[in-house]
Amino acid sequence: MTAKQLRQKYFDFFKTKGHAIIPSASLIPENDPTVLFTTAGMHPLVPYLMGEKHPEGKRLANVQKCIRTNDIDEVGNPTHHTFFEMLGNWSLGDYFKKEAIEWSWEFLTSPEWLNLDKKLLAVSVFEGDQDADKDDEAVEIWKSLGVLESRIAYLSRKENFWGPAGQTGPCGPCSEMFYWVGDPDKVPDSFNDDNDLWVEIWNDVFMEFNKKEDESYEKLTMQNVDTGMGLERTLAVMNRLDDNYKTELFSNIIKKIEELANKKYEESKEITRAMRIIADHLKAVTFIIGDDKSVTPSNTDQGYVVRRLIRRAIRYGRQLEIKDDLWISKVAQVVVSDYADVYPELERNKDFVVDQLNQEEAKFKKTLEKGLKEFDKLKSDGISGKEAFNLYQTYGFPIEMTQELAEEKGIKVDEQEFKKELKKHQELSRTASAGKFKSGLADTGEETRKLHTAAHLLLAALRKVLGDHVVQKGSNITVERLRFDFFHSEKMTDEQKQEVEKLVNEVIKKDLSVSCEEMSKDEAGKQGVLGAFEYGDKVKVYSVGEFSKEACNGPHVEQTGQLGHFKIVKEQSSSAGVRRIKAILE
Ligand code: ALA
Repeated sequence: MTAKQLRQKYFDFFKTKGHAIIPSASLIPENDPTVLFTTAGMHPLVPYLMGEKHPEGKRLANVQKCIRTNDIDEVGNPTHHTFFEMLGNWSLGDYFKKEAIEWSWEFLTSPEWLNLDKKLLAVSVFEGDQDADKDDEAVEIWKSLGVLESRIAYLSRKENFWGPAGQTGPCGPCSEMFYWVGDPDKVPDSFNDDNDLWVEIWNDVFMEFNKKEDESYEKLTMQNVDTGMGLERTLAVMNRLDDNYKTELFSNIIKKIEELANKKYEESKEITRAMRIIADHLKAVTFIIGDDKSVTPSNTDQGYVVRRLIRRAIRYGRQLEIKDDLWISKVAQVVVSDYADVYPELERNKDFVVDQLNQEEAKFKKTLEKGLKEFDKLKSDGISGKEAFNLYQTYGFPIEMTQELAEEKGIKVDEQEFKKELKKHQELSRTASAGKFKSGLADTGEETRKLHTAAHLLLAALRKVLGDHVVQKGSNITVERLRFDFFHSEKMTDEQKQEVEKLVNEVIKKDLSVSCEEMSKDEAGKQGVLGAFEYGDKVKVYSVGEFSKEACNGPHVEQTGQLGHFKIVKEQSSSAGVRRIKAILE
């Protein structure tokens, strides 16, 4: 089975169950400051899981591109990735546990669909704790389908309670499905999730809770289903491969790395691991930089993750003795050609990806050699925070890399002191740690709602003042402020900034109502609605008088008069061709 066939089968199956197929959202979350990247298919759907009406209905399915960096240390084994595709189906307050489980089982085992061997399947359910009950209902449903008690594991909150994606939001107990990838004749009678030969392929989340800022849980008014099936893992299972990197989703990439390194993938354990890490990391950065909301390497936020992935790939390339100059973009080009039919943005943004990777590789290589020499000079009894900081500042070594190099030598790094140094130099990179700010999409609090409406007014005003080439690249809202990135190549003059503020404040003063209507994507296109291309066939369009018309998930205020006074506090460059505005309402 090919990846294309597997995606299609999933869509076809869920269409027979009344689901609309929606497009993959961007890897860069819109308006959600609680997470750096889209980590699951449910993430862009948070407003709908909280009760907003979705234009395509209550049953949805898709394939979502995802980035997860929390498992980065496990990348190198056969089944973990930082970039992966997630097949998912959702019920927005429609069907619940029974249908979700029955349909998962049908899709996995029916001869018409995946036809997996029932004897090689096992499941897990939530064991219960003080906040949510043991999931006896799920157990009964699995048993009614013929799953034996010995193949059902009861797991804790850590394993079997999913979400929220950020700090707050929809979440719930889940039930995971595992497939035995070892010798079918040696499949154990009972299921133990510690055994790596049981690979988790799918997760059904019964999303009926909302986690609040004070860490307590409240029941949602609706019962949702959120599922996620790992495409890479399922494809491996379907083709009886014990290594995701041997599937067609990786084989061309690995072949390219073999060619560059002049070594074979299975020559040694170290070589296999290094090639997997390179393949994974370069695929991830190709997708992140190649996203229409592209993030480029930098020292903060998502950009820092990109930088760290690139530098790590280069370092493993060094280990493989890859000699070519500027080789990482060659691997990226294989990623683009392998995936462009499903993710056409990669082809659109290919030149930009190649250029960014070449620049970053050249920059890093210049200092890497010197840095490694410096590293080797350090005492063998440990690395002080000051030394680690020097490697970071002078040689561009991310702290994680210094730690990895130190680990290889069996020495320790004083991380506490490193952090102090970093703070002292006021460069504290806000790294991959999720939850930097307290609110998110799930927080439809008054302040974020106002800033969200302000973002629409800002975009409309920018287009009036600077021209129609201005399109939004991204936005990020906290309770305090709005950050807005847009395509425009020059610094704005003071007059332009004042003009934009004036236009926005005029609309606020007029106290116009904010209206919402649903329409087809074609209709939205005809009406010149901004941002409609990111959505599925039906879009929700928010309008403010004649001033602004933009496709969006909401939520928004009802009247512009609620906004107060709009002020731009900063206008700066964000990356090549992109400007960033920070604005507040006072
Ligand atoms: N959101 C669930 C997961 O990512 C389905 O596992």
